[in-house]
Amino acid sequence: MTDIDSIRGKYIVDIAAANDEATLEEVRLAALGKKGEISLIMRALGAMDPQERQTEGARLNLLKDEIDAALRARKAGLADAALDARLKDEWLDVTLPARPLRRGSIHPVSQVMEELTAIFADMGFSVAEGPQVETDWYNFDALNIPPEHPARQEHDTFFMNRAEGDDRPPHVLRTHTSPVQIRAMVDQGAPIRVIAPGRVYRMDMDQTHTPMFHQVEGLAIGRDISMANLKWVLEEFCRAFFEVEEVELRFRASHFPFTEPSAEVDIRYSNVGGQLKIGQGDKWMEILGSGMVHPKVLAAAGVDPTEFQGFAFGMGIDRLAMLKYGIPDLRAFFESDLRWLRHYGFAPLDIPDLAGGLSL
Ligand code: DAH
Repeated sequence: MTDIDSIRGKYIVDIAAANDEATLEEVRLAALGKKGEISLIMRALGAMDPQERQTEGARLNLLKDEIDAALRARKAGLADAALDARLKDEWLDVTLPARPLRRGSIHPVSQVMEELTAIFADMGFSVAEGPQVETDWYNFDALNIPPEHPARQEHDTFFMNRAEGDDRPPHVLRTHTSPVQIRAMVDQGAPIRVIAPGRVYRMDMDQTHTPMFHQVEGLAIGRDISMANLKWVLEEFCRAFFEVEEVELRFRASHFPFTEPSAEVDIRYSNVGGQLKIGQGDKWMEILGSGMVHPKVLAAAGVDPTEFQGFAFGMGIDRLAMLKYGIPDLRAFFESDLRWLRHYGFAPLDIPDLAGGLSL
């Protein structure tokens, strides 16, 4: 007769000693696997006489069940222990304060671009774009500034290099956003109403000049657009942009090659103890150049000057930002100093429109 007790004893000890699932599986195979000890003994039952087989079979079945139960219990125990160990190891203190979320801010130049885009959009202007590396034709010739024109010298232009032996005039870094007027008219024809905010470049550097700065160009061409429309559009823009009830603009006769007549526009302001106030006071500050688009400019862009006319203007965006938000030094705009950006930067979506003013 099989020594059930000693087999049982042996496996119970092995099961208790198995400290991980792999070892436990080895014990199971040794006892109950196809070639396991207990399985082999059970297979031998067939050779016994019926009487013996009955008692021996029952005892072996019992043994098998016992070992099986012990294996299962041990397996569950090991899993519990593993979970306990993980829980001890991987704890998390949910009461700790969260890490601070460092939020970026909107640069004043981007903010002002968003603001003026929203305001002009309310007046039916869409946004046009052009390249920053521009041909001299778009930057000058098409704007009625031929090669010998003195305005070319005044622009302090950055020129790109041409390959040796290439005699074509060099491309330039655009010195103003005015070439986008030409590109927009060439693309869309007339009538047209666009603004073109963007970067421009001139070789100039002091407290109020940086070699790269920003302008916004405005262009409105139709069959009967006049200086009166220009005046209204600019007044309406200044009211919304500076968020004041009343603004007063002064048009001063001036000269630009691409407009006839031309006007520089000043805005009334006061300066009390360094505090600038727009719309009141006894001072005037120049904010933009403007005029009726020169017939030659319309013609260069493929628009018939006998059928169409309209106005254009160009403003410095950085100037607008300094004025509106009281920022003293232009150079700080482009130094990427985080303290400056946090101080002067904006939260997203602080954008005024014609009706609402600055939404906070
Ligand atoms: N492009 C001129 C500049 O950079 C500004 C300007 C003046 C633009 C009059 C215009 C305009 O569209 O009509 O100084």
